[in-house]
Amino acid sequence: MSAKIELTLPAVARTAAVTETPLGRLTVPSRAIPERRVTVDPAELAHLRDMARAAAARAHAPYSGFTVGAALVMADDPERRVFTGANVENASYGGTICAERTAITQAASAGFRRISVLAVSCVQALHARIADRSPCGACRQVFAEFATDAPPSLVLIDSGDEDALGEILDLERLLPYPFRLDR
Ligand code: THU
Repeated sequence: MSAKIELTLPAVARTAAVTETPLGRLTVPSRAIPERRVTVDPAELAHLRDMARAAAARAHAPYSGFTVGAALVMADDPERRVFTGANVENASYGGTICAERTAITQAASAGFRRISVLAVSCVQALHARIADRSPCGACRQVFAEFATDAPPSLVLIDSGDEDALGEILDLERLLPYPFRLDR
């Protein structure tokens, strides 16, 4: 078992840009995310990555042929058990659910609400550019539903590279402006 390590999630800084038009102001909103330090367990990340790869073998993907697996642990699960999911496609296409959402709904329906780390592996797109193997917008929004700020819930994206665990992001860096109903 490897020791936990700290890493830096880099700051993101963008100022607003305002353009006056004849029909009113158009604004590109500002975005300011401070740098933050997070603690991760590389052994757990590697395990989740491997579990995600294995879960992809259980995908139901007869239409796209693109199999995806996800594996996560929940921060409010004292046993830190691993929940997995795979994409489950549907003949209606629109009824398809991605691997990340099947894994998250597994964990949520077991009673847990706070994601610690979620790994995703697009096994057919390993080594491709990150856009070809990272969570879709709907999965990012569902991740946001169960993401915590402190400590930040993390997503690990399998790159497939031998010498790499993959790319890691928190919600702020993964999904700008998630929709929220704060109650
Ligand atoms: N898919 C996922 O399961 N997760 C992703 O991150 C990207 C896309 C699935 C949905 C569909 O079954 C197939 O991959 C092709 O889009």
